[in-house]
Order: sequence, then C-alpha cells, then structure tokens
Amino acid sequence: MTTTSTPGLDRYAVAGNPVAHSQSPRIHALFAQQTGQELSYERLLCPLDAFASTVQAFAAAGGCGCNVTVPFKFEAHALAARLSQRAQLAGAVNTLRFDAAQDGGWYGDNTDGAGLVRDIQANAGRQLAGQRVLLLGAGGASAGVLGSLIAAKPTEICLANRSLDKAQAIVAAHLAWAEQHGVRLHASELGSCGSGFDVLINGTSASLAGAGVPVAPSVLAPGALALDMMYGPAAAPFLDWARQHGAEPRDGLGMLVEQAAEAFAVWRGITPDTSAILASLRADTAAR
Ligand code: ATR
Repeated sequence: MTTTSTPGLDRYAVAGNPVAHSQSPRIHALFAQQTGQELSYERLLCPLDAFASTVQAFAAAGGCGCNVTVPFKFEAHALAARLSQRAQLAGAVNTLRFDAAQDGGWYGDNTDGAGLVRDIQANAGRQLAGQRVLLLGAGGASAGVLGSLIAAKPTEICLANRSLDKAQAIVAAHLAWAEQHGVRLHASELGSCGSGFDVLINGTSASLAGAGVPVAPSVLAPGALALDMMYGPAAAPFLDWARQHGAEPRDGLGMLVEQAAEAFAVWRGITPDTSAILASLRADTAAR
C-alpha cells in the first residue's frame, strides 16, 4: 500500500511496518528541495508476511529505491543482489537501490552506522578516536552500527546485552574488522560491562517495553555522551537518566537525518547539507 506520489518523478519510499509516523518523507522532501533534485518520497506499508512482494511491486511501478525500517532490514539484506561492505558486516540493509539486472541488480547498503558516527562527530562534536564506547543491545539496531563505530577507531567497544550469546555472536562477526582498526572489541552482560565509558549508546528497545535504563550510572565517565538511537517520547527516559547522572544526553534525531543523507547520496550521487534540516526538525519537535 502506498501513499501520495507525483506522476513522472523518480519515486522513493520508506518500507516498513509501521511507517505512519516515519519522518523520512519529510526529511527526503527537504533534501530534494535543497539539492534541486526532482523526486517523490512516499510511505510503503508492507504487510509483515509480504515485504519482498510489496517492494518488488513498488519497483515494478517505477520505484527507484527505498529505505527499509523495522522489522525488514534482514529481509532487505536477502533481497539485494549486491551489498556494500558495511551492509555485509551489519548483516542488514536499510537502503535499497533498484539497479537494473544488466547493472548488477538491486544494491543494498546500510547507512545507519555512518549516520550515527557522523552525528556523534560532526553534530555533537565528539571525536570517537581514542575513546571508550559502550554499546547496549544486540538486536538489529546495534548490529547495524557496530562496523562504522569500529571504523572510527575508538580504543575500546564493549557490546553489552541482556542475552550474552547474542552480543558474542555480533562481536565474533566483527572481530577481524576490529583487529584491522586496532579496536579492543568485546561482549559483556549488562551487569558486568565495567565503568567510566566516554560514550554510551543505547540500541536496546528497553524503553519501549517500559523498562528503565538497563545499566548502572557508573558506566558513565564524567561528562560522557549518552545517546539513544530512538527519538521522541521513546528516548525520554534514557535522556532523563543521562542528564541526572551528569552525562550529555542526545537522542537519535541527528542519526536519523544523517543516515537519510547517506541514503540520498546512494540514490542521487549528491550529499545534502544536513545542519539546517536537523535544526528545523528539532525546532518542530520542541514546539510540539
Ligand atoms: P532491533 O532490531 O530494533 O534492535 P530487537 O532485535 O528486538 O530490536 O533487539 C532489541 C534489543 O533490546 C535486544 O538486544 C534486547 O535484549 P535481548 O537480546 O536480551 O532480547 C534488548 N532489550 C529489550 N528489552 C530489554 C530490557 N527490558 N532490558 C534490557 N535489554 C532489553
């Protein structure tokens, strides 16, 4: 099922379930306006058992590519004929470009990690090199960003999760990459991940389940950056907790805009300037 599109324009979409509250159509419309690219961007609600057929129908109807969101990033990975290195590492795809078969077929990328790293370094002004990073959660959100975090060369990344085996599996898939970049990467349970991290990143869905922050405040070094990959009300408990414990809180809105800019570049070969767009989204969120 699709929402609005304009005939004659290159069509893109965000494919997911749910997609009704996705900010992506707004962000990509602003990018298109800023860069003078003529395109339309719509919401593509995919039935839970029909992701592939819905996206294929969209491509057949003239779609050029799509972003992929929860819960289909793994299915999108399987659907791509070719994958970027970062999508291979993540085992998940958030950006599909519907290249013709003679051009190699559908291309799958994962821009989440690059978006997160750019938000931390360019927008929050924290360089990751030489820092100690604690990443919470071992679902798709954390798996999608770990490769890019490693490439930013912190000294250490601890991947902590409620179920240790899931953290260990993701760490195992990234160990060679971490060694190449001189990063000490290890898995931990939430209660024994250590203390004094410079950067804490929440990739769990604990807040959606109404649970509190699943680690002790001692994980934070004084003045640490504490970033939740979620934004809006879902991020509020984590951000309040961070503030209470002397950390600099940051939600996932910047990451959202930055990963979208990377996806736009994959499709259109031009990278939008994100700063004004992030500021306008923040102003809107604050006004609500
Ligand atoms: P996503 O693909 O969005 O990352 P997911 O695969 O459901 O979603 O992963 C959610 C993550 O949040 C998991 O790491 C999960 O821990 P488990 O692997 O042990 O299930 C974590 N999570 C969810 N609720 C949690 C809670 N109440 N406390 C701690 N971690 C929680």
